[in-house]
Amino acid sequence: MLTLLANAKINLYLEIIGNRPDGFHELVMIMQSVALADRITLTPLKSPTIQLLCDHPQVPTDHTNLAYRAVALLQKRFPEQTNGVGGVEIAIDKKIPVGAGLAGGSSNAAATLFGLNVLWNLGLTRAELQALGAELGSDVPFCLAGGCAIATGRGEEINPLPHSPQLYAVLAKYNSLSVSTPWAYKTYRQQFESTYLPLNDSANLAERQARVHSGAMVKALGSGDLSAIGDQLSNDLEKVVLPAYPKVNQLKQTMLSVSASQGASQSASQGASQSASQGASQGALGTMMSGSGPTVFTLTETLEQAQAIAHTVAAQVGDRNDLQLQVAPFTTKGIVLQP
Ligand code: C5P
Repeated sequence: MLTLLANAKINLYLEIIGNRPDGFHELVMIMQSVALADRITLTPLKSPTIQLLCDHPQVPTDHTNLAYRAVALLQKRFPEQTNGVGGVEIAIDKKIPVGAGLAGGSSNAAATLFGLNVLWNLGLTRAELQALGAELGSDVPFCLAGGCAIATGRGEEINPLPHSPQLYAVLAKYNSLSVSTPWAYKTYRQQFESTYLPLNDSANLAERQARVHSGAMVKALGSGDLSAIGDQLSNDLEKVVLPAYPKVNQLKQTMLSVSASQGASQSASQGASQSASQGASQGALGTMMSGSGPTVFTLTETLEQAQAIAHTVAAQVGDRNDLQLQVAPFTTKGIVLQP
């Protein structure tokens, strides 16, 4: 039996560049793992079956679940090693909100690939696991890598960024809302296709990717310039998701206004003698939607600030019972094997 923690991710940056020949979108993203994890327990079964257990009503337990498909993919690709080893039970203790833009399903698949590589002695390298993961979903390779990374292509090509400061994310999601990722990209294409790079324009594509590699967010992460990290948060999918989901837009506005007042009261309590930039660094750093949403996150420098913001947002939001609010620190790990 093997237990793994599968961490969620947030997008610090998501830029849509154009169409791809495979029908997906060419992206440049900056992804960050946060320590909000599903617990995945893999138990070998004598019979060659795949059994998935999860008591979350929105999580399918059949072949449509990405973790289930991860097992099937390994069995298909490595028949010699997997024939005769029996099957596996995958128990998912769900903590990451579902349909949230936090890569919950992808991280479960990543943990399953990682764990079965150990349980079945497949001897696959991280790169080999990531290549298999890319067949399951665009976010799976990042979930295997963890930490902070630039993701290009469909999102499956991962360039790790060695430095990201220890920040905290307040994550807010309405339980009753989830956004379909295919819908978000399709709607973006309908509205913005005229701005896309032409297909196979590899020179301009490389230039757009290079712009992010040497851009302001990567510099801010590298130098630990926290207010610049907040200023550089960006997500093209907000342009279609926020107008279509007014509640999410309203939630983002609430988080922005709570952040602003939190920052103001904190810098006031520091005394008037502090410089403006020091004062700014005491407050929330920025607020953005993650992935295709509808989770909205606010970044802070300290756990106390994050908890205070979560508390105030909870008090200000009308349907508090529908809102899931969690505080998650940045982490360098995607998948964590439990002792
Ligand atoms: O790869 P994943 O299964 O997460 O993608 C879900 C959907 O999101 C795809 O079927 C596609 O409609 C859209 N998508 C896209 N371009 C990407 C990633 C996802 O259009 N780079």
